[in-house]
Amino acid sequence: MKVAVFRKSTFNAAHRLFRKDWNLEKNLEVFGLCANEHYHGHNYRLDVKVVGEIDPATGFVIDLSMLNKMILEEIHERFDHRNLNLDCPEFANLNPTGENIAVVIYNLLRAKLDTKYDLQIRLWETERNYFEYPA
Ligand code: NI
Repeated sequence: MKVAVFRKSTFNAAHRLFRKDWNLEKNLEVFGLCANEHYHGHNYRLDVKVVGEIDPATGFVIDLSMLNKMILEEIHERFDHRNLNLDCPEFANLNPTGENIAVVIYNLLRAKLDTKYDLQIRLWETERNYFEYPA
């Protein structure tokens, strides 16, 4: 009997969508305002979905305080109030699009989460745009 458990959280970060191997004109053409030189911020919302069997001893799929601690340590301490392009080595050579951020977050949590669980990330960049990985 598998059940999905969700943990919601928020973090704030700045970014700029930009390829160093394209000139500014090409970057602005492809990425629009998101390529602006001096960065801009988002209030990201992160939904972490963990799917697993209910443990008959506890009635839990996963201890939510443990999951929350993992999200704080692995994601928030890395990215909250950071400039993703400048401060975070994960994006030194990776454009910090919502898609790429979702994949990076998934990989960081997947490495810490017991393999008995399925994991999915939903990352909200704005109220209207969100990204899911795995799709
Ligand atoms: Ni943006």
